[in-house]
Amino acid sequence: MITRDSRVKDLMENPIARDVIGRLVQYAGVSESLILNPVVKNLKLSAIPKFAGKSIRDADGVIDTMIDLFNQEEGTKPVSPSDNKAWWKEAVIYQIYPRSFMDGNNDGVGDIPGIIQKLDYLHDLGVSALWLSPIFDSPNDDNGYDVRDYRAIMEEFGTMADVETLITELHNRGMRLILDLVVNHTSDEHEWFVDSVQNPDGKHGDYYIWRRTNGNTPPNNWNSFFSGPAWEKVDERDEWYLHLFSKKQPDLNWENEDVRDDVCAIIDFWRNKGVDGFRLDVINYISKTSLSDGNETLGGLLGFTGIEHYFYGKHLHEYLHEMRTRSFKDMFTVGETPGTGPEMNKLLTADGREELNTLFNFDHLENLGKSRFDDYRYNLNHLKSCFIGYESDYANYAWPSVFVENHDNPRMVSKIDTREEYRDAIAKLLAVLLLTARGTVFLYQGQELGAVNVPFHDISELRDIESVNRYDAMLSGGASEAEAWKTVLRGTRDHARTPMQWSAGKFGGFSEHAPWIRVGDKDECNVDSQQQDENSVLSAYRALILLRKEHAALVYGAFTPFEPKKQDVFCYFRDDGDERFYIEVNLCSRTIHRPKPHGETEMELVFSNYLAQDDAMQPYEANVYRVQKR
Ligand code: NOJ
Repeated sequence: MITRDSRVKDLMENPIARDVIGRLVQYAGVSESLILNPVVKNLKLSAIPKFAGKSIRDADGVIDTMIDLFNQEEGTKPVSPSDNKAWWKEAVIYQIYPRSFMDGNNDGVGDIPGIIQKLDYLHDLGVSALWLSPIFDSPNDDNGYDVRDYRAIMEEFGTMADVETLITELHNRGMRLILDLVVNHTSDEHEWFVDSVQNPDGKHGDYYIWRRTNGNTPPNNWNSFFSGPAWEKVDERDEWYLHLFSKKQPDLNWENEDVRDDVCAIIDFWRNKGVDGFRLDVINYISKTSLSDGNETLGGLLGFTGIEHYFYGKHLHEYLHEMRTRSFKDMFTVGETPGTGPEMNKLLTADGREELNTLFNFDHLENLGKSRFDDYRYNLNHLKSCFIGYESDYANYAWPSVFVENHDNPRMVSKIDTREEYRDAIAKLLAVLLLTARGTVFLYQGQELGAVNVPFHDISELRDIESVNRYDAMLSGGASEAEAWKTVLRGTRDHARTPMQWSAGKFGGFSEHAPWIRVGDKDECNVDSQQQDENSVLSAYRALILLRKEHAALVYGAFTPFEPKKQDVFCYFRDDGDERFYIEVNLCSRTIHRPKPHGETEMELVFSNYLAQDDAMQPYEANVYRVQKR
């Protein structure tokens, strides 16, 4: 057990402490060897506040909070390496944001019949499964991430019969369906919540996290991810309920066994319909260790106060294991787990522990210390160092997921470099990195076309609750409209939520009706024009997906970086004993020296994002070679 008398060196035995230290060291930009320095190693935790002096406000409080967190894994056995094969490890999963993918009935909103129309396109692209962002009945405060009825389909999206047809049509093509299960919270219009408000002593009275306070201050100082406090008062109960997201998304009380029974019943319902797996929305938030105030210093560092009480709650593993053994059984699961670190991730996904199959780690999506709302250019060296971490450490124990886009983030190409002349090369470079990585590959709609951010004009063009709330909060905090707009425009999730562009026609061929959100600018970034062009981003994705399918070395093969310390270039081998591939990527917009891996015999170029090769590497050049085995 870790106490204030433990020494820094004792922490290295503890998985959570290892993650926390790893992160602090990265943020501080110091070498990990600093921890091994004899003076630091032997420092008692109780002495750290003295050393930290005034540089960490409330250092004592931070240390105590951390000690509680570390002790959650007291005595946990380290996980052992695993190398089982599974369909989902080999899969390329394509994420659809149904509202924006294809409008089958021309009402301006994408729907399930629209998805069915495009199944041949997806099959030709080579994807093995679809993940649909939520399709359940919802008042759409957060575009379906606020579920009103888990067994009904959102009317705008179609009917249960449409979903059944989708499942059949997918299975006929040898493809699979992954749904998005949002069970950290429901909508406040879900019948459980309505009943919880009206009947505090009834069956659902305790389904949510209710607390009473004297007066008008919330039960604690936690923030909501969508601005403002994480608590809302309901006069009818004279109590507050917790909502980590919008106030229309009350958090479920997972400590209540009936809640867990109901969640398992929902999973069973969809398993019986033939669904093959689930993406689990913010699943690491389901267990709240305590409702004490969040540490303000940590809150300042992490951007949200209170996170330490729920991002890795004390019953998390237990609840996940329960769902796995009772309901998921052999269905595929990918957990969305913001904020967890590599050691925690191993514990959440290692085979023998029967929790999640894999998870989304977000460390690579922004440079260290940056958020998507900041004004900066993404440096690809960061992607490299994160991928090396996932591939050489985590992947030996569990199975990573690899992705660079989803419905919550601006487009990756735009983060890296907004110059039009590099767009094509960067889009293909990302395709190379993903499709030669050891992990389940997730693509987000439009990524296969090299989609970029949308030049929205003003806040009236945005639909996302997070953006709108953030804009309002900035204005209330004294920012000017121009400042607030600039910030929100940089990070808005709506960049990724505009309609998929199928053609150069009106509304991008998405619908004949004006869509619910504006379409991006007209350009070559549409399916029709790219289908015709063998050098398009779409053709590159198709070729690389096929290459991956045909060569198990690119899925399961060992990952060995070549000269990993060299800046601005990322080279590695993938080798499964039968076949060997070499990948080389220029991570910057300069022409650079081409590294020469020695000792390799002939190499056959099997993919390049440039038509011709030179001695030097062109900006953002990315190549895949097959190495002839000696
Ligand atoms: C994560 C989802 O990806 C995001 O879109 C949503 O707003 C929050 N969870 C709340 O459900």
